[in-house]
Amino acid sequence: MRKIFLIFFVLSVGSAFGGDAKLLKEARKYFSPIPDLFPSDTNPLTPEKIKLGKILFYEKRISIDGTTSCAKCHPIGYYGTDRLPKSKGNFSKENPRNAPTVFNSAGQIAQHWRGDRRDVEDQAKRALLGKGSFGALSYKWVEDRLKEIKGYKKLFKEAFPEDKDPVNVDNFAKAVGAWERTLTTPSRFDRFLKGHLDALSKEEKEGLKEFIKVGCVSCHSGTLVGGNSYQKFGILEPYWKYTKSKKVDYGRYNITKKDEDKYVFKVPPLRNVEKTSPYFHDGSVKDLKKAIWIMGKVQLGKELSDKQVSLIEAFLKSLTGKLSEDIKTLPVMP
Ligand code: HEC
Ligand code: HEC
Repeated sequence: MRKIFLIFFVLSVGSAFGGDAKLLKEARKYFSPIPDLFPSDTNPLTPEKIKLGKILFYEKRISIDGTTSCAKCHPIGYYGTDRLPKSKGNFSKENPRNAPTVFNSAGQIAQHWRGDRRDVEDQAKRALLGKGSFGALSYKWVEDRLKEIKGYKKLFKEAFPEDKDPVNVDNFAKAVGAWERTLTTPSRFDRFLKGHLDALSKEEKEGLKEFIKVGCVSCHSGTLVGGNSYQKFGILEPYWKYTKSKKVDYGRYNITKKDEDKYVFKVPPLRNVEKTSPYFHDGSVKDLKKAIWIMGKVQLGKELSDKQVSLIEAFLKSLTGKLSEDIKTLPVMP
């Protein structure tokens, strides 16, 4: 009796282990662990630059209404997004699209839903003149405001010691970009990818299997589980049949004017997706389960069962990272 039990025990543990090891091997084909930071060839990271960038992220005095900073629409405590379908900028102006999180965004092929910002530095600089964001009158206007604030001269000089006149918008962009390049959120999924088979629960592993099996990985892959390609939203059916979209967005078509770019958007990273509701470029869906179901329907032509959706959701929640104390602490403003 005891012998039989032992054999049974060895077999079942063995197969569970074998199954998990197989899943890990499979997962490593599609995903890789998140790095500690996202380096840049054109913007080398230094502690001084990162420190200044964090301060500038909270700077409101360079906006036309004096109340708009990066942090207004990307609050760190809310995982770097504002929980609104569409962000509200200076004088509460509504933006055309939903604000994605700033966490891990530096690791993507490009920035913005339509990929019309090259990198986080380009994004930061151009946000200053954005009519719906800072609404600054000109780059010179921003530079004049920064120069009026006592304390920035020293901080910019420390961050850009080679520059004669370091208080300028290009250095604003480099500093903010440098800070964003440190905003990574390692999660239990990374531990799993590094070989800790027990880092995910049984349900989360089942969810990961579903995510791979039904084909979500054909678009949501890589380090960020997305952020590395552009794809049409609504491959099999128009997306607005299922979302609560008030207006149809042509996506990258409005930038490239190529027919094949109609309704094409950057595939969003799914890291921390549990925390970044509402979903999609127009923030038209609040519930993560619903977003998952819609994806199955319009991207893959599959009607996912409640069970499949729940499992996938469980897996996606394992992508929620921990925010370091350093990320969460507010800077002292000059
Ligand atoms: C008024 C609100 C608002 C302000 C202020 C704002 N953003 Fe954003 N941010 C958005 C919205 C909305 C988008 C999406 C724009 C789009 O794709 O059309 C976005 C996109 C981004 C992205 C791209 C993320 C991705 O996954 O593509 C980054 C990075 C970012 N913002 C950083 C910043 C920084 C840094 C600042 C300050 C310099 C800033 N934002 C100021 C609302 C704002
Ligand atoms: C053919 C490519 C493709 C496939 C397959 C795909 N997605 Fe997506 N996914 C996208 C694109 C593109 C978007 C952005 C849509 C938009 O414009 O809002 C997106 C958005 C999402 C979002 C919303 C994220 C956010 O921050 O707003 C979730 C969640 C999501 N996908 C999960 C899944 C799941 C789960 C599957 C599998 C059932 C899946 N996706 C399959 C391309 C794809």
